[in-house]
Amino acid sequence: MRIAFFAWLFSITLLLSFGISTVPVHSQCLNDQSSLLLQLKNNLRYNSAVSVKLVNWTQTTDCCRWKGVTCDKEGHVIGLDLNRESISGGISHLSSLFSLQFLQNLNLAYNNFNFTQIPPSFGNLTRLTYLNLSNANFAGQISIVLSSMTTLVTLDLPTLYFPGATSLKLENPNLLKLIQNLTGLKTLLLDGVNISAQASQWCEAISSSLPNLQVLLILRSRSFSFRLGQNNLSAQVPKFFADLPNLRSLHLCSSNLHRKFPEKIFQVSTLEALDLSGNSYLQGFLPQFPSNGSLHTLVLSKTNFSGTLPDSVGNLKMLSRM
Ligand SMILES: *[C@@H]1O[C@H](CO)[C@@H](O)[C@H](O)[C@H]1NC(C)=O
Ligand SMILES: *[C@@H]1O[C@H](CO)[C@@H](O)[C@H](O)[C@H]1NC(C)=O
Ligand SMILES: *[C@@H]1O[C@H](CO)[C@@H](O)[C@H](O)[C@H]1NC(C)=O
Ligand SMILES: *[C@@H]1O[C@H](CO)[C@@H](O)[C@H](O)[C@H]1NC(C)=O
Ligand SMILES: *[C@@H]1O[C@H](CO)[C@@H](O)[C@H](O)[C@H]1NC(C)=O
Ligand SMILES: *[C@@H]1O[C@H](CO)[C@@H](O)[C@H](O)[C@H]1NC(C)=O
Ligand SMILES: *[C@@H]1O[C@H](CO)[C@@H](O)[C@H](O)[C@H]1NC(C)=O
Ligand SMILES: *[C@@H]1O[C@H](CO)[C@@H](O)[C@H](O)[C@H]1NC(C)=O
Ligand SMILES: *[C@@H]1O[C@H](CO)[C@@H](O)[C@H](O)[C@H]1NC(C)=O
Repeated sequence: MRIAFFAWLFSITLLLSFGISTVPVHSQCLNDQSSLLLQLKNNLRYNSAVSVKLVNWTQTTDCCRWKGVTCDKEGHVIGLDLNRESISGGISHLSSLFSLQFLQNLNLAYNNFNFTQIPPSFGNLTRLTYLNLSNANFAGQISIVLSSMTTLVTLDLPTLYFPGATSLKLENPNLLKLIQNLTGLKTLLLDGVNISAQASQWCEAISSSLPNLQVLLILRSRSFSFRLGQNNLSAQVPKFFADLPNLRSLHLCSSNLHRKFPEKIFQVSTLEALDLSGNSYLQGFLPQFPSNGSLHTLVLSKTNFSGTLPDSVGNLKMLSRM
């Protein structure tokens, strides 16, 4: 059973809403917020020759105008974007970061937290809707506290993928437990995270727990590559993709998929792009297309699709690449 999951390389991309989208408000920074940020700066190790944000945080200026900082009207810090600030080493669970109680958006992507664990203190940030720890070199078991951060709308955790490196893991809690209460999630990115769950389990978990999910990416699971040499990689595309509301694109290229592709997926009227190329054992045929189909890209090269091209392909008014 595990094989089916491990054998997949896939990504689903739907309505994308990437990036921090907070309207900058120029209000006067509150003193306590300013001192928390300065403490944070002092306790972080970063390369001042590379940093463009932290280096310019100085006591003499209004912290709401510091680079990477966003405030609300009252002067509370609600957004912190420290991506690519060359931060290295771990972050203490006592860091003043976790006292910034008003934070809604936090981006620490592309730093080097030295393969330390994600501190449970993230649970203190009870208003977070956007958490981006992508490629930040966090490692080890993902803390259970993330599962109680029910305000999250975006969770981006991909880890750099190279053999031998320790990755982020979802064992206990596993994927099911993690997402159980994160019902507001619209974007969940877990590329490179070592997920120990069976395909049947996470398919069900994702479709039942995450009604609002628009973007899901579990590409290059570490478990997958770990298992690569040992298994026969026979995996089937689950029909559950067809039940995701708002599915916009599905890329399952070169994923060693076998057996029959569920034709129901072609009938998802919101689907704009479908790429199944490079799965030479994947069988299927083109069914009737719905009259309001949105497909603009359909790639079936190097698959074992057969049969005729149905007339209803004419329903695909948007089709530009086949
Ligand atoms: C996370 O941050 C990185 C760097 O800023 C960005 O490229 C990526 O799109 C962000 N992810 C999301 C889901 O916003
Ligand atoms: C940082 O601030 C200094 C002076 O306050 C300024 O000269 C410099 O250009 C700023 N650096 C960046 C990257 O904005
Ligand atoms: C990173 O972790 C290693 C091993 O635990 C340690 O020796 C090193 O000092 C750490 N580096 C930083 C910048 O904290
Ligand atoms: C977490 O929140 C509690 C209560 O709000 C506070 O006492 C504690 O200092 C916070 N922890 C950190 C690391 O900021
Ligand atoms: C999810 O919420 C329910 C009800 O509040 C709670 O009993 C359960 O422990 C929560 N699960 C996790 C993993 O936090
Ligand atoms: C993924 O997790 C499993 C189970 O703990 C472990 O055996 C395997 O070595 C891990 N894979 C990688 C690449 O870390
Ligand atoms: C591949 O593995 C599955 C599940 O273990 C098994 O049922 C199937 O017979 C295997 N196929 C081949 C060709 O070995
Ligand atoms: C296509 O039509 C079906 C039923 O006729 C409807 O439920 C669906 O919302 C429509 N989709 C789009 C993208 O217009
Ligand atoms: C392709 O599909 C046909 C049945 O349509 C089957 O006989 C053949 O073995 C399949 N080829 C591969 C490479 O899976």
